[in-house]
Amino acid sequence: MKHIYPDFVKIVSRTEKEQMLHQKSRVIWFTGLSGSGKTTLATALERDLFNKGYLSQILDGDNIRTGINNNLGFSNEDRVENIRRIAEISKLLVNSGVICICAFVSPTEETRKIVRDIVGPEDFLEIFVSTPIEVCESRDVKGLYRKARAGVIKDFTGIGSPFEIPQHSILSIDTSDISVEECLKILLNRLFPEISIQKNTTE
Ligand code: ADX
Repeated sequence: MKHIYPDFVKIVSRTEKEQMLHQKSRVIWFTGLSGSGKTTLATALERDLFNKGYLSQILDGDNIRTGINNNLGFSNEDRVENIRRIAEISKLLVNSGVICICAFVSPTEETRKIVRDIVGPEDFLEIFVSTPIEVCESRDVKGLYRKARAGVIKDFTGIGSPFEIPQHSILSIDTSDISVEECLKILLNRLFPEISIQKNTTE
């Protein structure tokens, strides 16, 4: 049997969806310590892209660890599984033409490589939010550094558990001394050529 389905039921391709949305779908992946500013930058980026007519979806601890990954903790094994599932979800979003903005600690090269391999290197844009631990700890937005120092959280990234400096990021941003608006400008400058559909048509 040559064709099971007639031509008109062919699935709509990613390229067609990207063209409909006038954008190139990518995974924009923020990695960095807790409190480094990942979610703040992801949120600012999503809002700005939305205002400019780009469709994106944020994945972060709030919507992933409370939902699909609520059975996972912070052992190395669970972090790897956390990231693997997120990478698969990101891939589905990218295949539907949507820009996927992820904010996860993803503390090791192993975890970041899992995403790169699943998503594919050409679609994976890794951004290192390099705010130093002293600054993250002084912010201590969720009070978790205090708990980690007190030994209540044993495997907290940067204290009881390592954070490996990313070796493959396309951009590093330290949010210690620059405003969200300035960070956003730096991000857009780097990301626009990657998501803008004009790039291919003018090349
Ligand atoms: S990851 O290491 O598996 O990539 P993920 O980004 O999903 O981590 O979750 C990190 C968030 O969970 C932190 O910002 C913090 O709020 C919270 N958290 C709770 N326990 C830990 C821990 N032991 N290490 C790191 N973050 C933790």
